[in-house]
Parts: sequence; C-alpha cells; structure tokens
Amino acid sequence: MAESPLFSASGVPSTEMQQHIINIAEKLRQSLESKLESESREKLTTYVEQGFNALTARMAAGIPESVRQQMLQAVIDETLGFGPIEPLLNDDSVTEVMVNNSQQVYVERGGKIFLSEVRFLDDEHVVRVIERIIRPLGRTIDRRWPLVDARLPDGSRVNAVIPPCAVDGPNITIRKFSKKKLSVEDLIRFNSLSPAMAEFLKACVVSRLNIVVSGGTGSGKTTLLNVLSGYIPNDERIVTIEDAAELQLHQEHVVRLETKPPEPTDPQGRSVAIRDLVINSLRMRPERIIVGECRGGEALDMLQAMNTGHDGSLTTIHANTPRDTISRLETLVLMAGLDLPINVVRKQIVSAINLIVQQARLRDGSRKVTNITEVQGLEGETVILQDILSFEDQGEQDGKVMGRFRPSGVRPSFMPQLKQHGFDLPAYIFMDKESSIIGGHRR
Ligand SMILES: Nc1ncnc2c1ncn2[C@@H]1O[C@H](COP(=O)(O)OP(=O)(O)O)[C@@H](O)[C@H]1O
Ligand SMILES: [Mg+2]
Repeated sequence: MAESPLFSASGVPSTEMQQHIINIAEKLRQSLESKLESESREKLTTYVEQGFNALTARMAAGIPESVRQQMLQAVIDETLGFGPIEPLLNDDSVTEVMVNNSQQVYVERGGKIFLSEVRFLDDEHVVRVIERIIRPLGRTIDRRWPLVDARLPDGSRVNAVIPPCAVDGPNITIRKFSKKKLSVEDLIRFNSLSPAMAEFLKACVVSRLNIVVSGGTGSGKTTLLNVLSGYIPNDERIVTIEDAAELQLHQEHVVRLETKPPEPTDPQGRSVAIRDLVINSLRMRPERIIVGECRGGEALDMLQAMNTGHDGSLTTIHANTPRDTISRLETLVLMAGLDLPINVVRKQIVSAINLIVQQARLRDGSRKVTNITEVQGLEGETVILQDILSFEDQGEQDGKVMGRFRPSGVRPSFMPQLKQHGFDLPAYIFMDKESSIIGGHRR
C-alpha cells in the first residue's frame, strides 16, 4: 500500500486530514439527519459513500486511490460510527479501549495495555463521540452530571466522564464484550488453572457450595464465574443478577435480571440496584442465585440467602487475596447500614461462604487462579482460611511467569458433602506431588 503523509503506516490520519474528514462527516450527518436512526447500517454506508464521492469529486483526481479509500473509511467511521476509535472497536484482538483525553488513547491486547496511535482532533471531538455513543441508548451527559455508564447493544460497557469532573479533558473507557466467553478448556489451555483444579471446582459447584470468586479489575472474575456457573446442573432454577448482563449460561431454566439507572425524565431519579434485585430474587423461588459482582450492601442479603437455604450461590468480589476478600465482605455488609457488630458479621460470612477462588492478572498479562481457599471457621475473632491449592510463582522466563499449581496437602472439610453428591475425587488432587503444571507444560 502506498504510504502517504496524510495517513500513517497504520492508517491514522494526520491532524489536517482528520479535520478534513470531520468536516465531510458533519456535512453528511446533516444531510442524512432524518435517516440516521431509521435506515440500516448498510444503506447508510451506501449513502455516505455516494455523498463522499460527490463532495470529493473535484479533489479526487489528485489523490491516489489507496488514500481515497482510507479517507472514505474514516468518513464512514466518523459519520456512522464512533470516529477514530471505530477501527479499535472492530479489532477483535483489542479487549479494551481507553481514551484518556483527545491526544491519548490506550488499548488492551492480550491482557496488556498499549498506547495507540489514534488521536481525536480536540476535546469537542471526544464529546461528540461520547454523545453519539449514548444518545441512541437514551442517556445524556452534561456539566450537571458529567458521568455516564452504559451498555452498548453488543454488550460492551462504556463509561465516560467529561469536565468539570474530567480534569484533563473528556475520557471514555470501553470494555468490549467478548463474543465468545472462554470455556474451561480455554482456561486450562492458557494454564489459568489445572485440569485437577477444574475437576475440583466442578465438584464444589454441583455439591452446592457457596463460592466467591475474587480478584482485581480485569483479572478474569466474570469469565471464571461464567465457567463455574456452567457446572450447575441443567434442572436447577437459576436467577442471575448483574449490572450488565455478561454471563452466558447454557442451562434451560435461567432468569436474568439487570440493574437499571434512573430514568432521565424521572424527577425522583429512581434506580434499581443490585441489592433490590437480590432481595427480589428471593421471591422468585431460585435454586441458585448468581450475583455478577457484590460491591455494596447486597453482600448482606446474599450472605443471608446463603445461610437460609439458598446454598450453591455464586458471586464475585473485588479483592486481591482470600484474606482481603473476607475484610472486603465485612466492609460491604456494613454498607447495608444495619449496624451489625463485627463478630456477628464475621459469623455470617464464615457460615455462608465455603470457598474463595482467587483470580489474578499476573505481571506478564496472564490470568491465573492463584488460590482455592476454604473458609473453615472462626477462631475467636479470626477467620480461619485454608488454602487447598495455590499457584507457586517460580519467577520469569522470556517474559512469562513460570510456576506451578500446588496442592497444600490439606483436604477440604467439606469432602463428605462432595461425596454425597457422588464425587469421589482422587487423592492426588490434594497431595503435593509433581503431577501439576510446571511453566507452560504439564509433565
Ligand atoms: N484465564 C484467562 N486467560 C486469558 N484471558 C482471560 C482469562 N480470563 C479472562 N480473560 C479475559 O480478560 C478480560 C477480562 O475478563 P473478565 O472476566 O471480564 O474480568 P473481571 O470480571 O475480573 O473484570 C476479558 O477480555 C477476558 O476474555
Ligand atoms: Mg467482571
């Protein structure tokens, strides 16, 4: 392809070219106004192409065809899509797009974050794209409420902040929806967990243990929750509760609930929170409750549900270690505002939660289950945690974290419960011998 100073080698336009593209797109948007919401994307693309050809007919002679094609694509993106970030959204290897300000756009690829070449013209350009993203969703953003959190029709999550809250200019964060959720086979292939761990976790889910997946943002909590949920037998009634429906369950008997922001037109501004949905779900005769993430007072309702017969429930929590998960849970329960004494809270936690599965994104970008930890009980004030399996970090080789999954040698105290459900797990799962994964390879 001929290189041109008007577009960089990777197809990013120069400032001058971008201004030109925006001008053309603005004209086209005005002339298409009435059609933009009603016509199909294909038809609109044809209109844009025709309009572009007409508007550029005079200059077309002077520019190489390859550049003209690049311009056309950029004009289509600017008129119908989300402008400069549209190519990133269409690139399946990109999992997250982060616009820090008009001049700084980062992307996540393969678990790692890179600065991209993409630029917006200026702050107004970013705001126009934000508005284009949220308007079809019936959402607004302005100085009075300069934050918006929304979900695109394809399931991707969008967050945007504009001034005065955004200090260095408007920003956008888009977590792209992965069309295909990773399966347990994928996770095993990526060495995120061992086959033995998968087998153990399956037994725990089927045997109705209450399980919390904990980890940092982007560590793979939702992915693992999805995999664990997949182990729930097909004849059990499942209610899922999420901020934005991400879980993809294949069972037949599933009811999916999602939170809702306040209606823009509702003066009371009522929203439906996770907590409202958890409370509501108890009246829906659930056999399993799956809460996408506990981040507030719903933790209390969740624990109470787990303690009153809705066992086998699953959720995720933002925490960096199993111990941290317990203190995070304590904090969340206190957010319910019931003024419970801490030892009561701890008792609730300990009797509700059986297992913590800790997920982490390691420094090389890989995701791993770093601990499978049993919550054993309370000794005085202290919650007793016992690792069943953990990942032993053995340093780096060629930029990759090496290590192995190591059983602690301690069998979980809920073995009888697994047995009752027909799981007679082989002893090697719990014994430390060299049958686990070393580095990338199983021996
Ligand atoms: N074990 C894994 N190996 C590689 N990529 C993963 C793994 N688990 C999740 N991912 C990817 O990481 C990104 C974040 O995962 P997600 O489950 O949404 O994280 P969280 O819920 O912790 O924020 C997604 O793009 C997902 O496909
Ligand atoms: Mg998540």
